[in-house]
Amino acid sequence: MQIIFIGPPGSGKGTQAKRLANRLEIPHISTGDILREAVADGTELGQQAAPIMAAGALVPDDLMIGIINDRLAKDDAANGFILDGFPRTLVQAEKLDGIVGNGNEALRVLQLLVPDDAIVRRITLRRTCAQCGAIYHLENNPPASGTVCDRCGAEVIARPDDNEEAVRKRLEAFHRQTLPVATFYKAKSILREVDGIGPVDVVFERIEKSLQ
Ligand code: AP5
Repeated sequence: MQIIFIGPPGSGKGTQAKRLANRLEIPHISTGDILREAVADGTELGQQAAPIMAAGALVPDDLMIGIINDRLAKDDAANGFILDGFPRTLVQAEKLDGIVGNGNEALRVLQLLVPDDAIVRRITLRRTCAQCGAIYHLENNPPASGTVCDRCGAEVIARPDDNEEAVRKRLEAFHRQTLPVATFYKAKSILREVDGIGPVDVVFERIEKSLQ
């Protein structure tokens, strides 16, 4: 299966994509995680992306397309993958068609629907493991110890772009640049809309049902 998650920032793409990837035993490819790793490693890509991400804007298409082209060419993606955060613009969606094949019958697109007013609270209370990327929420799903990751024991931190100002910019970018991508896939009849409000387990059940 080749699955794309589309949704506004904080809609639960990362939470659900990790879980689905475990269930289906296919890689979870998050462009946000790839960029954050590049920033942490201080690579040229990371230095270029860091200020753009912190401001809540989108990294240029040509950089993102190059990243995905290389990642999907790896062996572990041959039997399927989950894309989380890509494509985010129409240019990226069209290029992805060229990579996976236009009319590819294995491709499914899941759009998580969460209204803007729920987003800011989700994101400003999100905490992420600095090492393994596990996602927490201070109210809904806090780490047991409060400050370290339940899974690997590393520090649990707030992302630099998880402040209210950047979140509002990310939401604006989603509405302007990414919603047309959902329309693009709707026209191909491969888009499934999933209500993203409710407990994480319930949203996951909806996702599984929509893929049947
Ligand atoms: P990226 O990392 O992709 O960020 P995003 O799209 O803004 O999404 P988030 O990671 O913020 O949220 P999510 O939907 O994964 O939600 P999560 O599961 O964490 O991208 C970051 C930046 O990188 C972009 O702004 C851009 O600059 C750049 N970038 C990346 N890809 C790019 C591309 N293709 N082109 C150009 N630029 C690109 O959940 C959020 C919180 O809610 C958590 O605390 C979680 O515990 C909680 N939660 C989850 N589900 C529920 C639920 N059902 N109920 C209550 N709380 C829940």
